[in-house]
Amino acid sequence: MKKLRIAIIGTGGIAHAHMRAYAQMEDVEIVAGSDLIPGKARAFLDEFGLTDAKDYENTQTMLDEMKPDAVSVCTYNSTHAECTIQALRAGCHVLLEKPMTVHLDEALEIMKAEKEAGKIVTIGFQPRYDSRMRKIKEVVDSGVLGKIYYIQTGGGRRRGIPGSTFIEKDLAGVGALADIGCYALDMVLNAIGYPKPLTVSASAYDYFGKNPKYTPEADAKRFSVDDFSAAFIRLEGGITLDFRMSWAMHMNTTGATIILGTDAGLRIEPANPESLWGGAWDGSCGDVTLFHDQFGTPTYTPVPLTDQGEDRFYLKVRSFVDAILEGKPAPIPTSQIIYNQAIIDGIIRSSESGHEVAVELPENL
Ligand SMILES: NC(=O)c1ccc[n+]([C@@H]2O[C@H](COP(=O)([O-])OP(=O)(O)OC[C@H]3O[C@@H](n4cnc5c(N)ncnc54)[C@H](O)[C@@H]3O)[C@@H](O)[C@H]2O)c1
Repeated sequence: MKKLRIAIIGTGGIAHAHMRAYAQMEDVEIVAGSDLIPGKARAFLDEFGLTDAKDYENTQTMLDEMKPDAVSVCTYNSTHAECTIQALRAGCHVLLEKPMTVHLDEALEIMKAEKEAGKIVTIGFQPRYDSRMRKIKEVVDSGVLGKIYYIQTGGGRRRGIPGSTFIEKDLAGVGALADIGCYALDMVLNAIGYPKPLTVSASAYDYFGKNPKYTPEADAKRFSVDDFSAAFIRLEGGITLDFRMSWAMHMNTTGATIILGTDAGLRIEPANPESLWGGAWDGSCGDVTLFHDQFGTPTYTPVPLTDQGEDRFYLKVRSFVDAILEGKPAPIPTSQIIYNQAIIDGIIRSSESGHEVAVELPENL
């Protein structure tokens, strides 16, 4: 059997989850890994017993010499675009970690390179493979809500500022907003079919990240991203999206996700009111309830949900491999996630400028 030849770009934290998934597949072979930090790619490959796989500090050299069929881009956000475009130009399919990029123009460059290369780029939103997230989409897709006009989503953590490369603007680009906010956005936007964002009015804050009372002093000194942001977003079709996301705040939760329609409303409770929100990285959520009228009387119906314990990381990587082997489109395509990215970019621009901004996207994406 001819195996799909894969390389890993960026061998830090999340690369391990990609490797654990690839390691279970008989039809793929990890041929190389690259990381800017000397010795890091070698140590990573050795950790998985891949002594024959080649390690590189320079990603372009790896792509030129090893000519992989596909790559996982697991670098910090600020190098997502650069690495993805390099890989596409080298003829590779790409599984790119979330968020797609930091800025919208980088994401559009990826889409251009993807078209030119004729390869697929899929974005690593593993909650898409969770049965609870699929059930929420199934409820919305059934049409039971009628015309959807208002969504409130987000939430986040009471205390949960990460360290590492997540808190530096040069590396992560954005903080809570893109680290975990992109999941809440994906949960609701995917459920309603990813309508185009039109305008964004937002504010972002860093009161906890920069304060040594709440963040270790060394981290507080280098903290240069948002730890809380709030936004009011207008979507095509007359839909309002009210969004907020936190890494730290003096509150247990900012509330449930609600989707209001002309025939019914859907309420998605946070998984844990002290820390997690509906649609978090692990696809978790609390009770989901449909509010509707029956025989003229307002009532509600619980939506039966179960955590089926799927290996979401495996499924996200497997769906990428299957799409390549079967010549299918990207499972989580850039044509959807560009709107998620456009909102993140709009929140950055609006919070920096202090006023509402328009989302400008090319006509033919
Ligand atoms: N899907 C998830 O659940 C999940 C979880 C954590 C992180 N992530 C995402 O994964 C990405 C990486 O996060 P992480 O925690 O692994 O970060 P990390 O800092 O641990 O690892 C990133 C690595 O990329 C390397 N790197 C950066 N630019 C490079 C380049 N041009 N070529 C080669 N190597 C390069 C860095 O040296 C670093 O070792 C982020 O975008 C993050 O949002 C996703």
